[in-house]
Amino acid sequence: MNLKGLILSGGTGSRLRPITHTSAKQLVPVANKPVLFYGIESLRDAGITEIGIVVGDTAAEIEEAAGDGSRWGVNITYIPQEAPLGLAHAVLTAEPFLGDSSFVMYLGDNLLRDGISDLVEKFVTNGPDALILLQEVPNPEAYGVAECKDGAVVQLVEKPKEPRSNLALVGIYMFTPAIHECTRKIKPSPRGELEITDAIQCLIDEGKRVEPHVVSGWWKDTGKLDDMLEANRLILDAVEGDIRGTVEDSEIHGRVVVEKGAVITGCTIRGPVIIGERTVVRDSYIGPYTSISNDAEVGNSEIEHSIILEQSKVLDLHGRMEGSLIGKNVQIIRLDQKPRAYRFMVGDNSWIGII
Ligand code: G1P
Repeated sequence: MNLKGLILSGGTGSRLRPITHTSAKQLVPVANKPVLFYGIESLRDAGITEIGIVVGDTAAEIEEAAGDGSRWGVNITYIPQEAPLGLAHAVLTAEPFLGDSSFVMYLGDNLLRDGISDLVEKFVTNGPDALILLQEVPNPEAYGVAECKDGAVVQLVEKPKEPRSNLALVGIYMFTPAIHECTRKIKPSPRGELEITDAIQCLIDEGKRVEPHVVSGWWKDTGKLDDMLEANRLILDAVEGDIRGTVEDSEIHGRVVVEKGAVITGCTIRGPVIIGERTVVRDSYIGPYTSISNDAEVGNSEIEHSIILEQSKVLDLHGRMEGSLIGKNVQIIRLDQKPRAYRFMVGDNSWIGII
């Protein structure tokens, strides 16, 4: 069977502001690679080469980053969605692209450790009308929630106040074209969106076969800061060390990637850590689970369990920075001027913790 891929890469990213005021949430890097690229690679690894990406306000940025897909050996078609009106609305919008193909729908901010190759095979072999992925979570009210009985899904509810199970819907779904009738039939939810959860419930109500698969490896929806940092930790946990840049007078422990053109001097670096191209780190301690993007600068500081994006500077911090996500072109620096005072120029919805 020739499956298509549909990646949803619209949405406002409201839970990752202020980063998403200027950047698509799907392009925030995890271990220095945009989250979206992991999804493209998962589809490609499952043998899917016709991929549609549904885009919204951040279309230009997404297109610039992913291009025509040739770098992954896939063919990418961009599908503009007029407004973020829900995941089922995205499927409706993509119907002309999908035609009568079965497809894998992949939310562009989701990460799944073990990929989807085995699941695609299961979908093709078992031939249900839809296959959904589930995972037990401690906070099911934040997700679509499934209730299963005797190995079958009996009910799906989007973000229920009183969840009837702790099985969350993972943002990766496999559908036959039977889904289109349901995306056309459902009505907007209380949050004003056409929910894919409701469309799948409609399949169940119509007596179609919706097969559940409980995912055992890790899964992350990177829509929030803590999840983003956790995803960064999980991906870095599997990274192999590789020093391609310059390292002088420094101690490197564990798995550390230093990309080409990066310069590390007078530092202690405890992996897993990745340091991007042309980034300069001097007289600093960089601790586990830190990703520093390209063209950044860190001097005389201590950083752990954090993500720092391109062209940002962190200089002369007295305390250790941890659990932080620093956007592009940000400067966190010590001032020598008098009077001694904090000075901030901080965007809307920013968050600063001081000691
Ligand atoms: C969406 C779906 C939800 C699913 C989640 C997975 O939620 O509506 O059912 O559990 O993705 O990432 P959203 O991220 O739009 O709040």
